[in-house]
Amino acid sequence: MLTKLFGTKSTASQILDPNNIPHHVAIIMDGNGRWAKRRGLPRAMGHRAGADVLKKIARAADKIGIKVLTVYGFSTENWKRPETEVSFLMNLIGEYLRKNVQEMHANGVRIRFIGDIAGLNEGLQTIIRDAEALTADNKGLILQLAINYGGRDEIVRAAKSLARAVAKGQMQVDDIDESVFAENLYTYDCSNVDLLIRPSDDYRISNFLLWQLAYAEFWFTPLHWPDFDESTLVEAVAAYQKRERRFGGLVSEE
Ligand code: FPP
Repeated sequence: MLTKLFGTKSTASQILDPNNIPHHVAIIMDGNGRWAKRRGLPRAMGHRAGADVLKKIARAADKIGIKVLTVYGFSTENWKRPETEVSFLMNLIGEYLRKNVQEMHANGVRIRFIGDIAGLNEGLQTIIRDAEALTADNKGLILQLAINYGGRDEIVRAAKSLARAVAKGQMQVDDIDESVFAENLYTYDCSNVDLLIRPSDDYRISNFLLWQLAYAEFWFTPLHWPDFDESTLVEAVAAYQKRERRFGGLVSEE
């Protein structure tokens, strides 16, 4: 079935167990610049190719049965890049939404943004809010785009919001536990990541989903993001299915 779905690149050994599909997959879409450089192209072309891949991978994730896909589109640290690259990325995100939102809506995708959206330009904020509102009641894949997102920033915001609630007498300090804290993150209702994928031969978290990755399985590939395809996603999920997740406990005796 999956071999049919994904063509000849998915081998029989990569056929997935439908009862063990990761609920929440997160991807650091890395390597656009290196992909472009290798081809003698401007970095912008790498980002454009990366956006095309995102569209395909969101479709593939939905077909496999992944329920939540969170991708890192722009970090709170990416503002350090040259202004031309920053504005290209902002325009690309807006263009991606304008071009794809109707199709994603028709496919039942729920689009959400995580990050400091108020820090983006107003035109982009409007496109973002419209996409979220249009797709809010959809029941298919939740596609979370992390834009102007930083894991530490998210945790500090949650801490401040809880501190304010305590200061106003709306809650007691002892009411704060892990689940209350998680509800105050951007990812309030889908916080635990099952599988983190990072392409492009870098092995770090880069301030992505620090809280949510606590018990995620990590999978790396040397492929740059624009070379990532459906069969790579199947490979990552197949690898995930071979992992033994213990969440700090012990494996039960056979
Ligand atoms: C990292 O590669 C990639 C980014 C900082 C941007 C990711 C953006 C896209 C894939 C475009 C579409 C995004 C959305 C949300 C529609 P890099 O530039 O750091 O590559 P390098 O490490 O090879 O230089």
